[in-house]
Amino acid sequence: MQFSVSFTGGEVQYLLGAEFARYAGLVPTDNCIFITDDNIARLCAERLEGKKIIVIPAGEAHKRLDTVETIINELLKMGAQRGTYLVGVGGGVVTDIAGFVASVYMRGVQFGFIPTTLLGMVDASIGGKNGVDVGLYKNVAGSFRQPQFILYDTSFLVTLPDEEWRNGFAEIIKYACVFDKDMFDELARHDISFYRSNEIALQELIAKCVDIKNKVVLADETEQDERKLLNFGHTLGHAIENMYALSHGQAISIGMVAACFIAEDVARLDVNVREQLSALLNRYGLPITIAFDITSVMDVLMKDKKRLGNQIGYILPETIGHAVIHKLTEQQIRQGLKRMQDAIGR
Ligand SMILES: NC(=O)c1ccc[n+]([C@@H]2O[C@H](COP(=O)([O-])OP(=O)(O)OC[C@H]3O[C@@H](n4cnc5c(N)ncnc54)[C@H](O)[C@@H]3O)[C@@H](O)[C@H]2O)c1
Ligand SMILES: [Zn+2]
Repeated sequence: MQFSVSFTGGEVQYLLGAEFARYAGLVPTDNCIFITDDNIARLCAERLEGKKIIVIPAGEAHKRLDTVETIINELLKMGAQRGTYLVGVGGGVVTDIAGFVASVYMRGVQFGFIPTTLLGMVDASIGGKNGVDVGLYKNVAGSFRQPQFILYDTSFLVTLPDEEWRNGFAEIIKYACVFDKDMFDELARHDISFYRSNEIALQELIAKCVDIKNKVVLADETEQDERKLLNFGHTLGHAIENMYALSHGQAISIGMVAACFIAEDVARLDVNVREQLSALLNRYGLPITIAFDITSVMDVLMKDKKRLGNQIGYILPETIGHAVIHKLTEQQIRQGLKRMQDAIGR
C-alpha cells in the first residue's frame, strides 16, 4: 500500500508492505547517506553494503547533542551538501536523531526514514517531530520537520528482540486506549506471538496505527490540542524512563496505569478501565507499576513540556477508546501517584 499525506511542512510518502530496495527509487542514490546504529549495521550488513553510511552507537543514551555533532562532523568529512539526502534506518533513536540532523545540517537537507523497530513503524517515524535528550529531559532539543518518505519493510522485524516487540505494543495499546476501542478488543483477543507469526494481521495493525497517528497529527501539527492526546502515559513515563533506566515502552506502560489512578481521583474514572488496561498490558509483557521516589519524579515531571504555569496538561482516560486533557495541579498528580505507590505495598 502506498499513499501520501500533505502536512504544512511538505508531503510525506508512505510505502507500507514495501521492500528495503525500493529506497533507490526515492533518493538520488549517488548523493545519499544512511544513518543507522551499530546493531542494525551488524544485523543488516548485507543490505547496507557498498552504501555511504554513518553508524552511531545504539541506545537512548546516545540520543544526545554530542552524537548530533559527531554526525555533522562525519557529514562534513564525507562532503555532504545541501543536495545530499539523508536516510535514517533504525528505531526511534536513529530516526529522531537523523531527522534532527537533517533539519539543521546546512539549515536543512532532504531526508527519509526506514524504521526497523515496531515502535518506530507505528509511532516514532511518523509526525515530523525530531530531537534529542538533554540531561534527564527527553526530547527537549528538537525540530518539527517531515521526512519525504517512510518506507515500511517488516522483514527488518525478524531480528527484533522480544523486549522491543513489547515496547512497540506499548504505543499500540496507547492508540487503542485513547482512540480505538475495537482495536483494544482485537488486541485483547491476540498476543505478541500471534502478530509475530501472522504477517497480514501485523501489517494491518501497523497500517491502522499509521492512520491514527496521521489523522491526529494532521488535525494538530504543532501540538496545540488534539496531538497532546498522543502523550497519554508519557508525562510520568518520560519522568521515570531515564531516571529508572526503563525502556520507553515500559515507562509509558506504567505511565498509562498512573493516569488511570489520577483519573479515578480527579474525574471519577471507573476502576474497571484500569483493570482492563492493566490486563492488556500484562498480556503484552509490559509492567504496570514500579516503586519510585515520588518527590524526585515530581521534580522532573513538573519541568514537562506540557506544563502551563502551575498546572500540567495531563491526558486522562474517560473510557476505553477515549481520553481527554485535564489541567492538573502538582498536588492532584502527586495524590494519584501516591495511591499507585500504596497499591504496590498491598
Ligand atoms: N519522534 C516521535 O514522535 C517519537 C515517538 C515515539 C518515540 N520516539 C522516540 O523513539 C525512541 C524509542 O524508539 P525505539 O524503541 O525504536 O528504540 P531504539 O531506536 O533504541 O531501538 C531499540 C533497540 O532495537 C535495536 N534494533 C532496531 N531495529 C532492530 C532490528 N530490526 N533488529 C534488531 N534490533 C534492532 C536498536 O539497535 C536498539 O538497541 C525514544 O527515544 C523515543 O523518545 C519518538
Ligand atoms: Zn512514546
